[in-house]
Amino acid sequence: MNEVILKEAADIIMNSEYFIALTGAGVSKESNIPTFRGEDGLWRNYDAMELATPSAFARNPSLVWEWYAWRQGLIGNCEPNPAHKTLSSWENRGILKTLITQNVDGLHIRAGSVNVLEVHGDLWALKCTSCDYRERLSSPVSGIPTCPKCNSHLRPDVVWFGESLNPQIMRKVYSELELADVCIVIGTSALVQPAASFPLIVRQHGGRIIEINIEKTIISSVVDVHISGKAGEILPALNELLQ
Ligand code: OAD
Ligand code: ZN
Repeated sequence: MNEVILKEAADIIMNSEYFIALTGAGVSKESNIPTFRGEDGLWRNYDAMELATPSAFARNPSLVWEWYAWRQGLIGNCEPNPAHKTLSSWENRGILKTLITQNVDGLHIRAGSVNVLEVHGDLWALKCTSCDYRERLSSPVSGIPTCPKCNSHLRPDVVWFGESLNPQIMRKVYSELELADVCIVIGTSALVQPAASFPLIVRQHGGRIIEINIEKTIISSVVDVHISGKAGEILPALNELLQ
């Protein structure tokens, strides 16, 4: 671990006025949840167009639900790791103002983070494909769940390819991005829009960006500090310098 780089990041955080975080699948990797694009990534082994689009669901709801139920089962057996816990402790201490996540695994909330904006939804939330009915589960779905109000299929309340993000959540996200003077970007390939551009919005108005990732990403060349390593190791080490 490069101590000079860690110290540089810690100084930026200590001197921040409004510090926020953006996380992606890499933050949950050490909880044994697969990422999407890396080695063993879900999109290496599964076809997103057959599993994560509205038309895939219309064509074959039982296949889509089988895949989501499998992911629910997987995530149900995983625990938050030191990266999630460090972020929640920073919120507790008033250091971190908001956590924006692309993850649908709910691990930030399970780790105790409260001010979390889940821009891609929540794997445990369901919504009706026809009416406004919504519910939240705590155990994996079996079969194709149906709406108690109108009998249509229920679907996972996650954002699928080709869908827009929840406008209410996005309004909050953009107002946080405007306020932020430092953003830490953890474990995202920064390939999926609009989330990929969130750090750039902070940068556009003069904010600083710290990136933690096991590899270089498309935004690495424009960040102020790139820390190379696993989120579950780097965040606790960074925390040691924030005492
Ligand atoms: P990706 O799978 O695209 O990227 C994961 C990133 O985490 C990569 O840059 C890895 O190098 C990094 N990484 C892996 N292990 C790590 C570790 N232990 N510590 C730190 N970094 C690590 O996942 P996302 O960027 O989150 O969308 O993907 C964005 C969206 O694409 C997802 O939210 C999902 C997917 O399609 C929806 O489901 C709507
Ligand atoms: Zn309904």
